[in-house]
Amino acid sequence: MRFGISGRGEEMNLNRLSRKAIAGVLPSELIRWDVHYIPTVDSTQKYAAEIFRKRGRGGVFFGTNFQSAGRGREGRAWIAPRGKALLFSLVLIPRRPGDHHHFLTIVTALAVCEALRSHLALKPGMKWPNDVLVNGKKVCGILTEMVRSHDGEPGLVAGVGLNVNQGRSSFPGDLSGVATSLSLETGERIPRLPLLGSLMKSFEDQYFLFQKGQSDEIIRRWKGYSSILGRYVSIRKGKREIRGTVVDLEDTGAIVLRLDSGRTESFLGSECRFL
Ligand code: BTN
Repeated sequence: MRFGISGRGEEMNLNRLSRKAIAGVLPSELIRWDVHYIPTVDSTQKYAAEIFRKRGRGGVFFGTNFQSAGRGREGRAWIAPRGKALLFSLVLIPRRPGDHHHFLTIVTALAVCEALRSHLALKPGMKWPNDVLVNGKKVCGILTEMVRSHDGEPGLVAGVGLNVNQGRSSFPGDLSGVATSLSLETGERIPRLPLLGSLMKSFEDQYFLFQKGQSDEIIRRWKGYSSILGRYVSIRKGKREIRGTVVDLEDTGAIVLRLDSGRTESFLGSECRFL
């Protein structure tokens, strides 16, 4: 379903983030979200982790309109111009946070894919472990980190950076070949609030399956979006580079590679490059 826009005023309202507006589009069937919004922060990951450290509770949504020091994987920066992206972090306490760190990234990426398909009729792909692609270019990145509350209880923070209304100038030089926004791929301006509502509804659906232990169903859905299954890839593990064909995904979030030697081996959370 595309979200029709009847007028400029309505478009502005559906794009303007505030704590109240966000709370109004989040689903409430499964998780009663504790919603936080600050228009400018350094990184939503940091604030969400601080809230967990103090209160030790899951179900926290922390969103912003601009990050001055957004964080990506492997110490990279995550940059998005003010008002153009969806940038938020979710605090969750899955049944086994330690073991499920990587799988939560898969659950979140799957939620993004399902929302892009149902809300915008796109055909997204998932590039293990944490990227969502549209037409082969990255439109969303996910960063999952383990955190501890003041009394030592573990929780997870899943950060989502979704490129929504950036124009071409946001992806200069080499970036233009590898990154994009939803607006560039659809040719339309996309109001962020209804998209966020769809994404979070989809997140709750996938997360519920995960909590019920139905990882096999999540993996089945992941396979439907996977752009790496069957591909010959290169994985970095420390200083080693390993090459092989992706043959499966495990419920830890690890991918299984058939190596050149014919042996199969699984890998967690590494960087993955198509060859
Ligand atoms: C990646 O692909 O490297 C992951 C990017 C994750 C970016 C999001 S934006 C919201 C949250 N806050 C951050 O500082 N990072 C994550």
